[in-house]
Amino acid sequence: MKSPVKLIILLVLTCFGSRLLYAQPLSITITKRYLNLPISQTQKREAMQFMVNDKQERSFKIRLAAGEPDYWVFCDMSALQGKTITIRYDGDQAGLTKIYQADKIAGQDSLYREKNRPQYHFSTRRGWINDPNGMIYYAGEYHLFYQHNPYEREWENMSWGHAVSRDMIHWEELPTALSPDSLGTMFSGSTVIDYTNTAGFNQGNTPAMIAFYTVDNPEKQIQCMAYSLDKGRTWTKYAKNPLIDSKAKWNSKDTRDPRVFWYTPGKHWVMVLNERDGHSIYTSKNMKEWKFESHVTGFWECPDLFELPIDGDTKKTKWVMYGASATYMIGSFDGKTFTPESGKHYYVTGTIYAAQTFTNMPQTDPRRIQIGWGRVPQPGMPFNHMMLLPTELKLHTTKNGLRLTSVPVKETEQLFEKVQQAASLSAADANEKVKSFNQLDQFRVRTTLKLSHATSAGLSLFGQRLLDYDMNGNRVNGVFYSPENMTSMEITADIYVDRTSIEVFIDGGAYSYSLERKPVAGNTEGLRFWGTPSEVKNLEVYTAKSIWK
Ligand code: FRU
Repeated sequence: MKSPVKLIILLVLTCFGSRLLYAQPLSITITKRYLNLPISQTQKREAMQFMVNDKQERSFKIRLAAGEPDYWVFCDMSALQGKTITIRYDGDQAGLTKIYQADKIAGQDSLYREKNRPQYHFSTRRGWINDPNGMIYYAGEYHLFYQHNPYEREWENMSWGHAVSRDMIHWEELPTALSPDSLGTMFSGSTVIDYTNTAGFNQGNTPAMIAFYTVDNPEKQIQCMAYSLDKGRTWTKYAKNPLIDSKAKWNSKDTRDPRVFWYTPGKHWVMVLNERDGHSIYTSKNMKEWKFESHVTGFWECPDLFELPIDGDTKKTKWVMYGASATYMIGSFDGKTFTPESGKHYYVTGTIYAAQTFTNMPQTDPRRIQIGWGRVPQPGMPFNHMMLLPTELKLHTTKNGLRLTSVPVKETEQLFEKVQQAASLSAADANEKVKSFNQLDQFRVRTTLKLSHATSAGLSLFGQRLLDYDMNGNRVNGVFYSPENMTSMEITADIYVDRTSIEVFIDGGAYSYSLERKPVAGNTEGLRFWGTPSEVKNLEVYTAKSIWK
C-alpha cells in the first residue's frame, strides 16, 4: 500500500499520533479553594486553558514542571466551586498529573517567612510583580493593584494583582482583579471613584470604582475600562471597550498606561496617556468618550500628573508631571494643557520605576503619597520583585527653585524601635557602637556625618556602600548631589535595610535612592563608617518589625 495518501497518513500518525493519544486533558471537579501547579524554569512556556462546559474560562502561558518543580503557583478557584473544569496544556503533559486542589496554597505554612521575603515591603505571594496600578484610597482601604504574572516569577500573562491595607504598611493580598481576555493582556493604569455617576455604572448609593487600563496584544495597545461595585473585589469589563485606539494616529504601538483623575474647576475627567514620545491629555464628561487635547514630549510610560501646594501653602500650587523614570517637570495645568515651567529634575533614582500616587485621599488628609516598583530580584524565591515604601511627596522652595522631596509616610514609624542613639562621635567610636547590630536581618539607621576633607566618606554594610558621599565629585552613590547648604560638609542619611533591598533618604528626602542588598562575598565588617568623616554628628539605630506577623 504505497500510495502518497497512505504515506502522509503514516507520517502524521508517527509525528502527532503519540502526542494526541498522550495529550489527554485533565478533568477536575472543583471542591477546594486553590489549584496548585508545579513550575520549572527550565520548561518551555506553553499555553494552558481551563474549559468549563466547553467554553474557555481562562488561558495563560505556563512552564508546567514535567519533573521536579522549582516551586509552585496557584489559581484561586473560589468562583468555580462545584464546576468541572477541563485543563488543556500545549506543553509536556507529564506535569498535568501533579496539579492538585487544596484549601491551602502549596507552601502556605512558610508563606512570608521564606528566606528572601522582604519583611516590611509589599511583595506578592507567588509570581512576578512590576508597576503599581490603580492606587486609590476608598472606604477606609488603600488599594494597591499591580502588574502581575500569577503563574511564574518572570514577566508574562499581565494581569492586575490586588492588595488592600488600612495603613499602607500591612497588606492583605486579594484574588487577581483583572485577567487577560480575548482583547489581550492587562497593562498598567489607574482607578477613580465615580461619585456623581457620570459613567452610569453606579448602583443605588454605591458609586462605581472604575479602572482604566491598557490592553496589550501583538498588534496594538488600546485603552479600556472596567468597573467594580464591591470595593475592587470583582470587576465587570465595559462591553464597548476599547475607549481609545490611537495606534494609527501615532503610527506607533506605544500608547499606554492611562492615568485618570477628576478636574474640579472644569468639572470633567482628565486622562494622561503615554503616547509614543510623551504624555497626552484627553478629557471626558462620561469616561466613555475621550477628546484629545494636548501632548508634552519627553516622557516614556506610566504618567502621573498632580497638583501640590508650595511649601505647604494650599493657596499657592504647581503641577508635577512625571513618567516611569520619575524625572519630573513642574508647571501649570488648566485642565487641558500642561505647560512645563522647569525641569527635568530628579528626586529619586535606583531600583524605582513606574511609581504612582494614591488618588481620592480623604479631605482631612490631602497628602500625595507615592509607591514605586522596586526592581529588586528575590533570588531563589517563588515570587519576584517588590514595592518600595510609601513616601509623601512635597514641593519646596530651594535656592535653585521648586523641588520635590520624598520621605517615608509617617505610618512607617510603627515598624521601627530605636535601640541606639548617640551624638558627636568619632568614626572609630561610632563603629564600636554599631557592631552589635551587624547580625540584624532588617533595620534602619539614621546618621549625620560631617566630613573632615572634601573627599569621600560614608557607611557600608558588609562591604556594600549604603552611603557613599563623594564631595569632590559631588556625588552620592554615583549620582550628582549637592546639599541645599552647599558649604556645610554635612550629609544626613535615613537608611532602611530589608532582607533584599536598601532605601536611602538624604537630607529630609531632597534626594533618595534604592539598591539591591548585595553584601560583598567574604566581607565580615558589618556596619562600618569609612572615609574621612571628622565626626558622626548623629547616630540612631532602629530594629524593624515584619509586616507579615
Ligand atoms: C512599565 C510598563 C508599562 C506597561 C507595563 C507592562 O514598567 O512597561 O508601560 O503598561 O509595564 O507590564
